Amino acid sequence: MNRKVLVTGGAGYIGSHTTVELINAGYEVIIVDNFSNSDPSSLEGVERITGVKPTFIEVDCCDKEALRKVFEAHDFMSVIHFAAYKAVGESVEKPLMYYRNNMLSLINVLDLMSEYNRPNIVFSSSATVYGDADVLPVTELTPRKPATSAYGNTKQMAEDILRDATAASATLHGIALRYFNPIGAHPSALIGELPRGVPNNLVPYITQTAAGVRECLSIFGDDYATPDGSCQRDFIDIVDLARAHVVAIGRMVEGRSKSQYEVFNVGTGRPVSVFELVNGFEKANNLKLNYKIAARRSGDVPAVWADTTLANEELGWKAERELNDTLRAAWMWEKHVRGIE
Ligand code: UFG
Repeated sequence: MNRKVLVTGGAGYIGSHTTVELINAGYEVIIVDNFSNSDPSSLEGVERITGVKPTFIEVDCCDKEALRKVFEAHDFMSVIHFAAYKAVGESVEKPLMYYRNNMLSLINVLDLMSEYNRPNIVFSSSATVYGDADVLPVTELTPRKPATSAYGNTKQMAEDILRDATAASATLHGIALRYFNPIGAHPSALIGELPRGVPNNLVPYITQTAAGVRECLSIFGDDYATPDGSCQRDFIDIVDLARAHVVAIGRMVEGRSKSQYEVFNVGTGRPVSVFELVNGFEKANNLKLNYKIAARRSGDVPAVWADTTLANEELGWKAERELNDTLRAAWMWEKHVRGIE
């Protein structure tokens, strides 16, 4: 059985945690990354955690000839394609940059997989494809809503490309994992999220506020039609999310896929509000956070969380980490980054 996996974007937040879990499960990992939104220090973190130095090649997946050399040199049978831009707001301002990067890199990967007969791909999709769903929790059969950002549209288009490419091939197998809200860090605090500039996402903003890097967290809206007025999300621990990739790869490598293209929600199945998350962070870490209520952020859906039945039953995967521990790990990582304590 070929246990080599190409991980594009492997130096990033989700990519580095997934690399650790792949190595722990006995896979050999080849990473490509162009560090457009990541840092070489994550590769050192992976090595310190696992004792294994994954093969690393600095490549932009939009550069097909550079990527071809990686396919020439390494006989992996599986690819996990993380490499993509992911900032919703930026994608609205620079749509062409998002379409070029996210679509071209995927097409290059799929082209080369076809040319070099590499059969398995896991793709990083997102709960953003559900938009403001009519019925919650969302299942994989919940209709996708038209995307409200170029970023969201790249995820929808990428899923469609994968569906069509697998349908047209006798051998290609693909699994799209629809991530909900990944948070936290490896419990070792040796790898975690490294947002550039002002964080867009809630948890990095919280940890930076706790560290004194940001003055005050703004809670975007307390007048939603939700139990406490703030938005509800399905916050999933990054290590749980990483493990979902390992089982998805195993399913394909061991020939257990039920069809050539499959889609799974990767969440906890539990809604948590922004207020609950902030309070949970304070309790888990025994500190007080400076926060205020601010206007709603445009584009936010009031609530979204996953029905995880399919992933639980078909992948045999479920989220296991307690939110408390996740929020502790998030703070430990921020302290590690800032050199606090
Ligand atoms: N929030 C705040 N203050 C902040 C940041 C966020 O109140 O400073 C709120 C948001 O308004 C939202 C919630 O916290 O209600 C979560 O916001 P995030 O930006 O952390 O996450 P989103 O749910 O907006 O988006 C995330 C990913 C996207 C992905 C989407 C899928 O960032 O890439 O989940 O649901 F598409």
